Amino acid sequence: MHDPSIFAQRRRRFFEQLGGAAAVIPAAALAVHHADCEWPFRQNSDFWYLTSFDEPEAVALFLPHRPEGERFVLFVQPREASAEVWNGFRWGCEGAVAAFGADLAHPRSELEQRLPEYLKGAEGIAFRVGKHPQVEPLVLAAWAGQLDRAPRSGSAALGLVAPCPLLHALRLRKGPEELERMREAARISAEAHELARQVVRPGLLERQVQAVIEQHFLEQGARGPAYGTIVAGGDNACVLHYTANSSPLNDGDLLLIDAGCSLSDYYNGDITRTFPVNGRFSGEQRALYELVLAAQEAAVASVAPGFTAEGVHDTALRVLVAGLLDLGLLAGSVEGVIEQGAYRHLYMHRTGHWLGLDVHDVGAYRLGEHHVELEPGMVLTVEPGLYVSDRLPVPEGQPEIGECWKGIGIRIEDDVAVTDHGHENLTASALKAPAALER
Ligand code: GLY
Ligand code: MN
Ligand code: MN
Repeated sequence: MHDPSIFAQRRRRFFEQLGGAAAVIPAAALAVHHADCEWPFRQNSDFWYLTSFDEPEAVALFLPHRPEGERFVLFVQPREASAEVWNGFRWGCEGAVAAFGADLAHPRSELEQRLPEYLKGAEGIAFRVGKHPQVEPLVLAAWAGQLDRAPRSGSAALGLVAPCPLLHALRLRKGPEELERMREAARISAEAHELARQVVRPGLLERQVQAVIEQHFLEQGARGPAYGTIVAGGDNACVLHYTANSSPLNDGDLLLIDAGCSLSDYYNGDITRTFPVNGRFSGEQRALYELVLAAQEAAVASVAPGFTAEGVHDTALRVLVAGLLDLGLLAGSVEGVIEQGAYRHLYMHRTGHWLGLDVHDVGAYRLGEHHVELEPGMVLTVEPGLYVSDRLPVPEGQPEIGECWKGIGIRIEDDVAVTDHGHENLTASALKAPAALER
């Protein structure tokens, strides 16, 4: 069980932001894996953030226009022995009230019938369209009914509004209890990287390294991987979302591992490390590794209140481009190469993303023309990389790439929390100095 007062406090803040609008926030549905087999359940992060209720098919209503004691309503799957014997315990309506602080709870099957009455009198309806196909028609029908009756009833919600800007602004700024959980996710994830490096040797399958990592996640009480673990030897590392993990590790190649765990309450780690399979960098590998590391360390050092995620990206990019010019892998000036995007065949992604309940966490990076400034409590990844292969064409005017560089893919990724005066690197215990990676 999680501290109910923290979730109650989040709901209070959400209510303050809603003003007179009612919010409808659905839980996740079970997802089919194949045939009649389902994936392990993964709660919707918005729903989790506000309720801590970890069952599928539920819906939460936040009704600021209703009297005290009727404002937080949960629709849930009711207790039912014949279903629980197959799929496990349910809290049911009684549990939703007693253990999760709902003012009222009803069976999910009653949502269609009860929703119009609950939404009556709300100034607006906060609901995220396009994401919840089971619930969306019910919300739209309830609102349409209000509009049909408005001439005689005298009121109807004026509009459907997106709850995301309000809710996601809250989620973007992590509280102390969330940062504590993110440290835990980071600790377990970093330990898994350290364990993995100790077992790596030529001939091992990528998947066998994945097993070591994910075993550690489970042993430490995490739910499992936060995303498809990437164990990419040699040229496989140049495929950014490589998850096949089916190749043997070759003597002389680098190995890129991008792996992080997801905790029981869904906070995530997201770490990438790259190191030589046989324990020794080649000259080219070391040159590129040291360049990515310099870019990553400069970018991490730049994380502080008042700076921006865009600025962190620019910091890394400038170091990378300057280094690639020195190595002869790019030609021109730093400014010119960046302006033309002439580096994108070697570095084709951004330098990081918000991290939290979602791995690519919610929250705006920019509002109109304004880049959102970093504030204490925000957490972002810092993950520059270089990927040298033939997959993308060399831009006009840029040098062809010598064979000796090809098949080198490197990324270094840490999870970094913004603090009052700078930052805290949550994943610093996963080693990345070249000397620590060689043996
Ligand atoms: N592992 C996903 C990412 O680094 O964004
Ligand atoms: Mn990652
Ligand atoms: Mn990442």
